[in-house]
Amino acid sequence: MIKQRATNVHWHEGDITKADRERLNGHRAVCLWFTGLSGSGKSTIAREVEKILYERGIHAYVLDGDNIRHGLNKDLGFSPEDRSENIRRIGEVAKLFVDAGFIVMTAFISPYRKDRDNVRKLMKEGEFAEIYIKCTIDVCEARDPKGLYKKARAGEIKEFTGISAPYEEPVNPELVIDTSVEDDVRVNASKVVAFLEENGYLQIPQEVASAEVQK
Ligand code: ADX
Repeated sequence: MIKQRATNVHWHEGDITKADRERLNGHRAVCLWFTGLSGSGKSTIAREVEKILYERGIHAYVLDGDNIRHGLNKDLGFSPEDRSENIRRIGEVAKLFVDAGFIVMTAFISPYRKDRDNVRKLMKEGEFAEIYIKCTIDVCEARDPKGLYKKARAGEIKEFTGISAPYEEPVNPELVIDTSVEDDVRVNASKVVAFLEENGYLQIPQEVASAEVQK
């Protein structure tokens, strides 16, 4: 945890709440936290889910490890401390997206259980779901979409997850998708959409929808 440095800063609550934004959107807000090895399929599945949701008029957005490391987190490397800070910042950003009424999907290796659990603690019950994109290291290495496993084996990349740095599997994820068993992206994305449907995220209850907004 990072210690708060600034003093004399005050939390300001607006009149419009997350519930108001959910009512406006016609669906609930949640963070789907994809975790798994590099090459397991996190980003690919998340992007496919984003497309399906977009077509259904749902406000969804993907935060992706490789992209975020070009901007917000470009000061961070792959030491355990930097990975923790990477995940902490993304957790805070994802929390803002949930407050804004989005279905936000994060695609980061997020190899440490403690870091993922800290993000879960940041959010309220039902606002965070861990999705384990499971895949054997052998299959990830055979796919090697960015040629990084090859470099890691050659010792050109240090602390590479699964090769020379750890990956701690989720203990109780809300959903597990094993892409070494099934690698059709459309099939896997539909499992995520089914999870959202089954848990009531894609609509809001009638009584909430029809409630008068008293401001
Ligand atoms: S995390 O561990 O901090 O969650 P993150 O998801 O942001 O990682 O970034 C992982 C991506 O960075 C990988 O998909 C890969 O493309 C690239 N990468 C570069 N170096 C490493 C490394 N040492 N370990 C893992 N991924 C790396």
